[in-house]
Amino acid sequence: MRKGRSGKAALAQCDRIPRDTQPFSYRRNVGSSRQRGNHPNGLITDCAFPKPASRLGVEVVRMDLETLENTFLPDESRVKKGSDNIFAWYGRYQQAKALGEPAINGTVGSLLENDGSLAINSVVNETLRVQSDFDISSYAPLSGLPEFNSLASELAIGPRLASLRDLGLHTSAVATPGGTGALYLSARTMLAVGDTILLRSLHWGPYDTLASECGLQVRHWPILPEGEAPHPKVDLQTLEIELDAIASSQDRVLSWLNDPAHNPTGLSLDGDGRELVLDAFINCARRHPKVGITLFLDTAYAVYAEEPYGWSETIHTKFSWVEWPENLLICWAFSASKSHTFYGMRCGSIVFLHPSEDYVSRLAEICSVTGRGTWSLAPRLPQATLLDIHRDEEKAAAWAAERDRLMALLSSRRAHFNRLIEAAGIPLMPSNDGYFAFLPCDDPLSIAEKAAESHFYAVPMTGGIRIGICSIATHDIDRAAEVLIASWRAVEE
Ligand SMILES: Cc1ncc(COP(=O)(O)O)c(C=O)c1O
Repeated sequence: MRKGRSGKAALAQCDRIPRDTQPFSYRRNVGSSRQRGNHPNGLITDCAFPKPASRLGVEVVRMDLETLENTFLPDESRVKKGSDNIFAWYGRYQQAKALGEPAINGTVGSLLENDGSLAINSVVNETLRVQSDFDISSYAPLSGLPEFNSLASELAIGPRLASLRDLGLHTSAVATPGGTGALYLSARTMLAVGDTILLRSLHWGPYDTLASECGLQVRHWPILPEGEAPHPKVDLQTLEIELDAIASSQDRVLSWLNDPAHNPTGLSLDGDGRELVLDAFINCARRHPKVGITLFLDTAYAVYAEEPYGWSETIHTKFSWVEWPENLLICWAFSASKSHTFYGMRCGSIVFLHPSEDYVSRLAEICSVTGRGTWSLAPRLPQATLLDIHRDEEKAAAWAAERDRLMALLSSRRAHFNRLIEAAGIPLMPSNDGYFAFLPCDDPLSIAEKAAESHFYAVPMTGGIRIGICSIATHDIDRAAEVLIASWRAVEE
């Protein structure tokens, strides 16, 4: 519609365009029993301009979606498809359940209690409900509540924070809407449009979306070594090759590393593995002194890992005797989604660690501006809630007790699942911590379909099947493993 025209005039104008040149067509609706516009009870029904439209009696009867897309949207918008594999398989589980099937849910990425309800750290929700009206309604500062930023650094880095500071390192943080916000800020500020980001071959699907939204290319290094390697979980040679390739072709390197408790495998690196990876980044920084090298640790599931703060230990040990190259930056994405079962509150932070206090402050300033231009600012209420919990000894202890209960739930499900799969001789990926396990296979879709025939639902992905240990009730682990083993054998053997 042209600016300045009334809806009626514009529609009338549109009607005069020969039909085959109109992007979509209209039918006169005079005398039709279908009422559009104002509903008799005062509700507006399916029309944006109530009175004139009902008076006009004009109804859109056919809109060619492709023509509309081509008319309105640039190429980069038209390529976006919303079909989410995980939600599609979750939908199939729900459908089976609704039909009364004994369906087992291994699809979702939220921790469920054994009765199928969402597991909730009750201390968090109780504390949220007693926050002040001001903290409920007010904006937070653009970079987040200052005390929350200190807390986020403590929660991301853990008890080693003080000793890292003793080594002369400095931190800063900016509150973000979840860990996703932290990932976005790093992609938007540490790289330029057209740059390449380094990921592991298997990663959380939205990494690709985030990279694409930021105009980045993606390169990978394998989640596990394919041949000889100095560590069973680190393909050091390929990591070094990829880091060098990127450092030689652009001015900055950024790599997202989801560890510990990797999604979608449950894999966690041990101390030796972490040291090898850290050395690769340090060595790359030394070989390319003019290139900024950023290791970004996505620790979304860390509190449900045996070594939640393993990276801080490794970094502390290393830099107790090795000099920190000034072109190396380490970041964390803190996420309260899983640690505080706060998925929908969108609470997180990007945390920076570097020897220059001025530089980490400057990074925080830059990220606040990027945040301002993207989501404005992160919500205040969850920040205030976390502060209330962690600045009160009793509440913090109660939160930790609930976290330990949830951790025990996950650990017992995983230990039992791993035992059954291993006894059957099926090659599960290393499955250490967190919410998921991953069965690599050549034909994930056929195996997932076969399992669904026996009412176990998991998510087929490129290269294998993601099993949501987090969503399978403990008493269903036996049957889930049994179905998976039988399905794997039927398809792969
Ligand atoms: C690997 C990984 N990183 C980051 C996130 C971000 O979570 P949120 O944005 O809810 O904090 C998720 C959520 O599922 C995840 O699986």
